[in-house]
Amino acid sequence: MVQSHSIRHLISLQDISDERLAAVLERSLRLKEIGEPTSLAGRSAGMLFFRRSLRTRTSFEAAVNQLGGHSINLNASSDFWELEARTGTIMDGPAPEHIKDAAAVLSRYLDVLAIRPAVEGRAWQTDRRDEGIWAWAQHAGVPVINMESALWHPLQALADLLTLRETLGELKKKRLAICWTHSPTTTSAAVVHSLLLAALRHDMDVRIAHPRGYDLDSIVLDQAAETAGSRGCELEIGYDREAAAEGAHVVYARSWQSLSDYGNPTLSASHRARTREWQITEDLMARGAEAHLMHAMPVRRNLEVSDEVLDGPRSLMYLQAENRLHSQKALLLEILGR
Ligand code: CP
Repeated sequence: MVQSHSIRHLISLQDISDERLAAVLERSLRLKEIGEPTSLAGRSAGMLFFRRSLRTRTSFEAAVNQLGGHSINLNASSDFWELEARTGTIMDGPAPEHIKDAAAVLSRYLDVLAIRPAVEGRAWQTDRRDEGIWAWAQHAGVPVINMESALWHPLQALADLLTLRETLGELKKKRLAICWTHSPTTTSAAVVHSLLLAALRHDMDVRIAHPRGYDLDSIVLDQAAETAGSRGCELEIGYDREAAAEGAHVVYARSWQSLSDYGNPTLSASHRARTREWQITEDLMARGAEAHLMHAMPVRRNLEVSDEVLDGPRSLMYLQAENRLHSQKALLLEILGR
C-alpha cells in the first residue's frame, strides 16, 4: 500500500498547522462547486463506531464514496470482538482481541481509520486522556481520524469553521457566543472544546455562558486563554447568557455535561433539573448583531432551542450538517495526499 500522508493522525484540530487548515477550508469550498469523483479510487476507509452517530457516520461514508473510494463501517456492538486496550495485561477477561492486533490487521486492509471511541463516563480525569483513540493511533499503520472522543470533535469543528467562513467571511473580531442549553440527558463537551480553540485560532472574540458548575475542561480553558492572549482576542466566560449574546454575530447552542458531577448520574440529573430556562429563544437571539444560530445536532427542539429560532432564516444548523460532508472530503484528500 503506497502512502503519502501529510497528516499522520487527526485526534484534535490542533494536529493541523494553520497553513494546512486554511488549505483544507479552501478545498472544502471548491469541492462544494466541483466534485472530484475519482480522487480516492482504489482507496478504502474504515469507520469504527463504539457509540451511536447519525451525521458523522453518514457524512463520512458519503464523502469517501463520492470521492470514488470505498468505505467499510464497523459497529462495536455487532461487528467485531470486544477489544482490550491495556498493554502488557494478561487477557483473561471478556475481550478476546487486543487493539494492537486489530489496528495492525485493519491497517493492512485500509488506507485510513476513522474512529468514534467509547467513553467510560466514570471519571473525567480518566476520560479526558482519550486513551481509546490514542491506543488506535499508537498501533495503526495508517492515519487515524477522531470521529469524537471525550475531549475533541475535530470533524465538527472543521465543518463549523467552514460554515462560519461561508456565512461571515473574514472571522477576525467577529463575535461568537457559545451558550449552554438545557438537556435532560448528559452530552459531551467535545464539540465546544474543539470549536473554542478553532474560533480563537481564527481571531474571533468568544463569550461563553453556562450555569454554575458547568465549567469546561480546565486544561482546554488554559489553552484557550493562552491562544486568546497571544492573538489579541476577547475571551469571556460567565453565567449570563444574555450578556454573552449581546452583539454576537453567531450564537452557538450546545448542552454539555457538568465535569464536577461527572460519573454521578443522580447528582447530575438533580443539577440539570434546575436549568430548564437555558433555552435559546428569539428574545435571546435579538440581543445579537443579526445573529445566526448554530447547533451541531442532534438538537432537542423547544428545550435547547425554540422551533422559531431553529426554523428561522438565521439558522445555520442544516448548512453546518451539510458542511460535514464537504469538509471531510477535503480532509480525506489532504490526509491521503491527493
Ligand atoms: N454532530 C455529530 O457529530 O452528530 P452525530 O453524533 O449524529 O454524528
